[in-house]
Amino acid sequence: MINIENVNVSYLEGRAALKQISFRVSDGETVGIIGSNGAGKSTLLKAMMGILLPSEGCIEINGIRMSKSNIRKIRENVGVVFQNPEDQLFMSDVYDDIAFGPRNMGMEEAEIKNKIADTLKALGIEKLIHQNSSRLSGGEQRLAAIATVMVMEPKVVLFDEPTSFLDPKARRKLIELLKAYSVTKLIATHDLDMALELCDRVIILKDGRVFTEGSAKELLSDQVMMEASDLELPFCLQQNKSPI
Ligand SMILES: Nc1ncnc2c1ncn2[C@@H]1O[C@H](COP(=O)(O)OP(=O)(O)OP(=O)(O)O)[C@@H](O)[C@H]1O
Ligand SMILES: [Mg+2]
Repeated sequence: MINIENVNVSYLEGRAALKQISFRVSDGETVGIIGSNGAGKSTLLKAMMGILLPSEGCIEINGIRMSKSNIRKIRENVGVVFQNPEDQLFMSDVYDDIAFGPRNMGMEEAEIKNKIADTLKALGIEKLIHQNSSRLSGGEQRLAAIATVMVMEPKVVLFDEPTSFLDPKARRKLIELLKAYSVTKLIATHDLDMALELCDRVIILKDGRVFTEGSAKELLSDQVMMEASDLELPFCLQQNKSPI
């Protein structure tokens, strides 16, 4: 269970990027965080990871209330897949990148090896195990980045623009993997067709505030609400428009 209450976050003194954000997410839900550029989606995910601390309000994840002293505990429960896989992959091979988190927790190498094999299999990327992360394609890098999170078995996973930079086939593969990945998921995205397909619920941010929230199917097909949120309908619901 995630409980966010009246959260304010500022990067610069006096200029709040998140204002009075409140919402709840139940265990096992998939929730889309949507909104135009600069609405506050990435800031919200950073606050939920303890990368940015709120100046006001409270963030509680699985009964743990976020504070400076228990960020480590929060991170045992929450994983984040960053928008840019290069922020997540920094070792010289994929195995070491995925092993980084478990090694940090003091896990035995034999157990790490087994966990990595299982994770790569679940993602269908066994062949990448000893490749150089920086030489993978964008789609392969995204899956390797997801593997670094999945191997830690977090209960909640935050995704920032998971389909960006992916071609249609890689995007489809990722959507199917996310469907099968049964953790609590928060997905910040401009890919409203993906949100429609994957999310139970969406939270729409506008100018750092929760503008509205509700069923993904209902909200994403409500043209008046989408336009008021500075968004458009998903492509699949737009008439006479091609996706490009
Ligand atoms: N490092 C930073 N320093 C100062 N202001 C920032 C910083 N990062 C973001 N902001 C500001 O915070 C606000 C929210 O930005 P954020 O990146 O959370 O938006 P977003 O919804 O993720 O946008 P996008 O769709 O472009 O990814 C914006 O006004 C942005 O200019
Ligand atoms: Mg962003």
